[in-house]
Amino acid sequence: MNRSIDIKINGKNYSDVVEDRLLLVNYIRDVAGLTGTHMGCDTGHCGACTIVMNGEAVKSCLILAVQAEGASVETVEGLASETGLHPLQVSFRRNFAVQCGFCTAGILMSALALLRNNPEPSPEDISKALTGNICRCEGYPNIVKAIEEASLVIRASKDLGREPRGKENEKEG
Ligand code: FES
Ligand code: FES
Repeated sequence: MNRSIDIKINGKNYSDVVEDRLLLVNYIRDVAGLTGTHMGCDTGHCGACTIVMNGEAVKSCLILAVQAEGASVETVEGLASETGLHPLQVSFRRNFAVQCGFCTAGILMSALALLRNNPEPSPEDISKALTGNICRCEGYPNIVKAIEEASLVIRASKDLGREPRGKENEKEG
């Protein structure tokens, strides 16, 4: 059966008619054309498909597109702005937290949700937040370091009353 859905992704409204068995990850990649979100296991184990939906990090292979009706979704494409990369992206690059990169989009989105809920996470908090994200390259130490550093940058920017992103921030690496 087909149903019409309205979803906001990265601030943009999408309206489509979809099969009710279509997974949200497939909607994001194949209908919305946002292929930064990866599909790994398709069974909820790897976390490559993690997005932020209504403020929570969720695995988009475990949700039907029709279940996201009316939701506000954020994907990795929404991280950077016209002023530059998000501090998480800058920090991942600076800390060599990306190897093959397959897990990276999902880990960035888990980290984004974490830092919004807990702006000053300990390494243990970060590891716990990433339990649903597998990095087959085993880059965990650098990933945790990168998220910790991004949290510092974001907090410092807020203290200075500045937007915590931008080309200036990118050049700091
Ligand atoms: S593709 Fe969704 S958890 Fe692996
Ligand atoms: S960087 Fe290769 S799977 Fe994580």
